[in-house]
Amino acid sequence: MNLDLALRTRYASKVYDETKKLTAEQEQQLLDLLRYSPSSVNSQPWHFFTLVSDAAKEKILPAVSEANRSKIIKSALVVVFTTRTQISEAHLNALLSQEQSDGRFATDEQQQNQDKGRRHYVGLNSHTPEQQRNWMARQAYISLGFLLLGAASMGLDATPIEGFFVDKMNAALNLDAKQLTSVVVATVGYHEDTDFNATLPKSRFPQEQVITRL
Ligand SMILES: Cc1cc2nc3c(=O)[nH]c(=O)nc-3n(C[C@H](O)[C@H](O)[C@H](O)COP(=O)(O)O)c2cc1C
Repeated sequence: MNLDLALRTRYASKVYDETKKLTAEQEQQLLDLLRYSPSSVNSQPWHFFTLVSDAAKEKILPAVSEANRSKIIKSALVVVFTTRTQISEAHLNALLSQEQSDGRFATDEQQQNQDKGRRHYVGLNSHTPEQQRNWMARQAYISLGFLLLGAASMGLDATPIEGFFVDKMNAALNLDAKQLTSVVVATVGYHEDTDFNATLPKSRFPQEQVITRL
């Protein structure tokens, strides 16, 4: 599907057809959308949990608001976006060594500059633990955007979901022990005919109200 059509026809699905599953290729493409999302200073402060089985979905159901539960059950794939509870020294070192093994540096100096620059920007966003967590959450939302538009371009339906309880989700996925915290959820699949939102017109403020060309 071309970009413009995907942009105009995508919408937040409210009812999924539980009989329609994803192919392995579709699932892989969705994972790639998440993993290849950009993040500030390539910080990748995230971990994505993808849930496909009924058992996995059941586990998180109590953490999801009533209104969103059927989306979890009936969609083909659920993504729980999490971020680290803090950017650790080990994470910064792991980033640098990944970039090194991916061939990003021709010289030691380039590697050192990258490390220094990243630490500087992390520092600017880490005056308090809360500020750092907010910064990491913003990176996770970029990957949410990638997933939503990417899914639409693949002809799939999706729903971003903030209607869940962070503490309960963290407990359901044992995130505290992994030093992670849940940020947002998304479901992907195919809508059912009864999905009222599928035929409603899009509603957005006019361009001149939200965009200023200077
Ligand atoms: C961050 C975020 C959280 C949302 N949370 C929910 C949710 O919990 N349940 C739901 O049905 N829709 C949710 N939505 C869908 C929005 O209501 C929807 O995106 C918005 O009304 C615009 O409509 P459209 O996506 O159909 O274009 C969420 C959207 C975003 C971006």
